[in-house]
Amino acid sequence: MEGTRTKSRRFACKVDDIDNGESMTIEGETPVALFRTEDGEFYATSDTCTHEKWSLGDDGDIEGDEVICPLHMARFDVRTGEPLCFPATVALDTFEVQIDDGNVYVLI
Ligand code: FES
Repeated sequence: MEGTRTKSRRFACKVDDIDNGESMTIEGETPVALFRTEDGEFYATSDTCTHEKWSLGDDGDIEGDEVICPLHMARFDVRTGEPLCFPATVALDTFEVQIDDGNVYVLI
């Protein structure tokens, strides 16, 4: 069907590998930022800040449901990928996260 493609399930880490309020980058053809909010929810977006290409998984700061890029302080909603303030104006891609038997997977 036009516009659809099969997604692959990529292992990200064990649930216990990432604490609340932290993030990590999952390397690969499509680098993904995995966030665990202060409430313990997992979300995944494209890793690269849409402003000037900075890694959000490695360097982003999480506040609530937002990640802040440390380079120029753009904020994104990790649930939707939407930019919340200047200088970012383009949304991050988002990816489904699955938790299975203590493992975290991202559908890419
Ligand atoms: S590179 Fe992220 S705000 Fe500029």
